[in-house]
Amino acid sequence: MSKKRFWLPIVLMVLALVLAACGGTTPAETTTPTEAAAPVEEEAAPVEEEAAPVEGGTANQLEFYSWWTAGGEADGLNAMYDVFKTMYPDIEIVNATVAGGAGSNAKAVLATRMQAGDPPDSFQVHAGHELIDTWVVADKMEPVTFIFEENGWMDAYPADVISILSHDGEIWSVPVNIHRSNVMWYNPAVLEANGLTAPTTMEEFFTVADALQEAGVTPLALGDNGIWTSTHLLESVLLATLGADGYRGLWTGETDWNSPEVTTALESFARMLDYVNADHAALSWDQAAQLVADGDAAMTIMGDWANGYFTSIDLEPNVGYGYAPSPGTDGVFMMLSDTFSLPQGAPHRDNAIKWLTLAGSREGQDAFNPLKGSIPARTDGDRSLYDVYLQSAMDDFASNAITPSLAHGAAASEGWVTAFNDIMTLFVTDRNVGNAQTAMAQACVNAGVCGQ
Ligand code: GAL
Repeated sequence: MSKKRFWLPIVLMVLALVLAACGGTTPAETTTPTEAAAPVEEEAAPVEEEAAPVEGGTANQLEFYSWWTAGGEADGLNAMYDVFKTMYPDIEIVNATVAGGAGSNAKAVLATRMQAGDPPDSFQVHAGHELIDTWVVADKMEPVTFIFEENGWMDAYPADVISILSHDGEIWSVPVNIHRSNVMWYNPAVLEANGLTAPTTMEEFFTVADALQEAGVTPLALGDNGIWTSTHLLESVLLATLGADGYRGLWTGETDWNSPEVTTALESFARMLDYVNADHAALSWDQAAQLVADGDAAMTIMGDWANGYFTSIDLEPNVGYGYAPSPGTDGVFMMLSDTFSLPQGAPHRDNAIKWLTLAGSREGQDAFNPLKGSIPARTDGDRSLYDVYLQSAMDDFASNAITPSLAHGAAASEGWVTAFNDIMTLFVTDRNVGNAQTAMAQACVNAGVCGQ
């Protein structure tokens, strides 16, 4: 691992950025090789449909590849497509999606395409290790520094955000947002009906969960048909148990994976599984959020794309749903960032550059993020366009300690995340804390971060 890669998580960790301030969507007219916005995650079904070539050349297209198919995330993407279509009515958008939250299916299909020399024009990729370790060091990307320079963006983004997108003196993708992973969403009416308030510590979580279970309400909604949601839940529990510094150290080798604190976190996680919906292995993240919306479960821990989901089903923050830092993590913002890339050999490179130029602009980000459930990566977003939850996220991002998300590419390399997800698949089933902890410690060694 290069020195630069080693320091990436540290750079992420010390992000303490001031965001200065930072409409209804009409679906864009797009060509959709796979399903358009679907409320539930479906099996990966990448289908490539070439549009008819224009006279004298290849079709004037933009193929953008993502996993944004659920309510909220698809709406945000469509809103940005709408702006693009207005600017470039002659360019046909090919909305290439492979459903499955966190890219659980999309990333593998993308890797196959990239290896086969068949890249889309641009694709969604997380800032940090996922971008740099997977694609940049493999020499599959074009730098986008020139887009930043031509548009005068070097001052429009926090320096630390630019830093985590940089390698060998170049910037390698355009960040469209900042997401928070450690959020607990809850049904205010359900809690109130049971005389409860949202738990702020792990201890309170178990007290509230016991009371709900006794009242016949599922305390915690989980939808881990993609195992990443369990990894996502665990990263919040690790943060609650180890604190910001201890959690950060897990990804730099400074925190011992064999420590009693990690044991405690794993025990808490295993205990939480006593309070989840019985069908969790069959549901997706958005179906789990729907359980909370419907009052069939009281709480769920998910990134703030859930805010986009609740908005997409017309719920109002603090009315139809409530939010709080996941128990025990107040004052810490577990961050990740979605970015858009320029792969080498993009078939419609000029159109990709137009797309990236929009994605990095204030207008593009302010069209996308209010529906996506994220805050702009730029520092000059129009705060008035964002709902009360997102405004609180802006404030927290500006004032909280920042830690990198594991489940969403910021904290660790793709190989390490995959190994972690495999451990979680077993752990969720057998709940064997000792085995999980040993395997996690070994995964850190295998990643080249922890010593033998
Ligand atoms: C994350 C991604 C978010 C959202 C989520 C669920 O990895 O960063 O933008 O799409 O997956 O699909």
